[in-house]
Amino acid sequence: MRYREFIEHRLAGAISNIESLPSGYHLVGHVALLQIKRELMKYSKEIGEATLQYDNRIRSVAIRTGPTVGVERHPNYMIVAGIQDTIVIHTEGGVKYKLDPLVLTFSGGNIQERIRMASITRPGETVFDMFACVGQFSIPIAMNNARKVYATEINPVAYDFLLENIRLNKVEQKVKPFLGDCKEFQPDENVDRVVMGYLHDTNCFLGYAISALKKSGGIVHMHIAQQEDNKEEIVKHVEDVCSGHDFLPSISITMIKNYAPSVKHYVFDIVLSRKGRV
Ligand SMILES: C[S@@+](CC[C@H](N)C(=O)[O-])C[C@H]1O[C@@H](n2cnc3c(N)ncnc32)[C@H](O)[C@@H]1O
Repeated sequence: MRYREFIEHRLAGAISNIESLPSGYHLVGHVALLQIKRELMKYSKEIGEATLQYDNRIRSVAIRTGPTVGVERHPNYMIVAGIQDTIVIHTEGGVKYKLDPLVLTFSGGNIQERIRMASITRPGETVFDMFACVGQFSIPIAMNNARKVYATEINPVAYDFLLENIRLNKVEQKVKPFLGDCKEFQPDENVDRVVMGYLHDTNCFLGYAISALKKSGGIVHMHIAQQEDNKEEIVKHVEDVCSGHDFLPSISITMIKNYAPSVKHYVFDIVLSRKGRV
């Protein structure tokens, strides 16, 4: 039985606005993350208890209480049912991620991108993951073809999980972590590929990403949350920054997910080659 049908059935008679119930949840390890409409907040506990009964992998149910905030992207959730311990080991595509989804964001909408990044990295590549968090891109990339991944993370809580995940997935020889601002880090070598997995003013970091690339060029994956009609403005910015570094960009843009009303999460895949060389 589908989740929506299940909770409708469980909660029939107990709550009004049954038609506003959520149609799904995001499962991170044993924690089900739920977003419910404001009018249902007074039934949080009942919805949580019903959700707990739906799937025996769920041991905690958390409801979103506000937007994700700050540079470190702190989510806002409260536990409404189940156990309070929300540190999980979430397994995805053979990668183990230890994290606390009540404290750090782990997006369900980015799963295909995590898989894609691991699969397009070619054997022997060096990669710079500028916004590493708990290793969402660094670890799968390192577990596949990369020779070395440089991973920077500004939030000490995320960084500690990153260190644990490097050990958990046995990629100590491949991932070099750094606690601090990616703008202040220089990889030991110029890299083939840069991943910019951050959605807010990411274009302001593009110059740093380009400086980390090999002199002959490379690839930058720049994620950004934008209104659809602003895309051309970003393309112009990318062209200008690349030109300032003597590179010619070839840009392809893919939508990853809806981010907010009229705002979408895009990834700009930017292949940079030296001007005058084709
Ligand atoms: C939303 S998470 C994204 C994680 C992962 N890259 C992904 O796309 O799924 C963004 C991370 O970037 C980190 N961050 C933000 N500004 C940073 C900076 N200047 N240098 C390094 N890390 C930064 C935040 O602390 C957060 O953990």
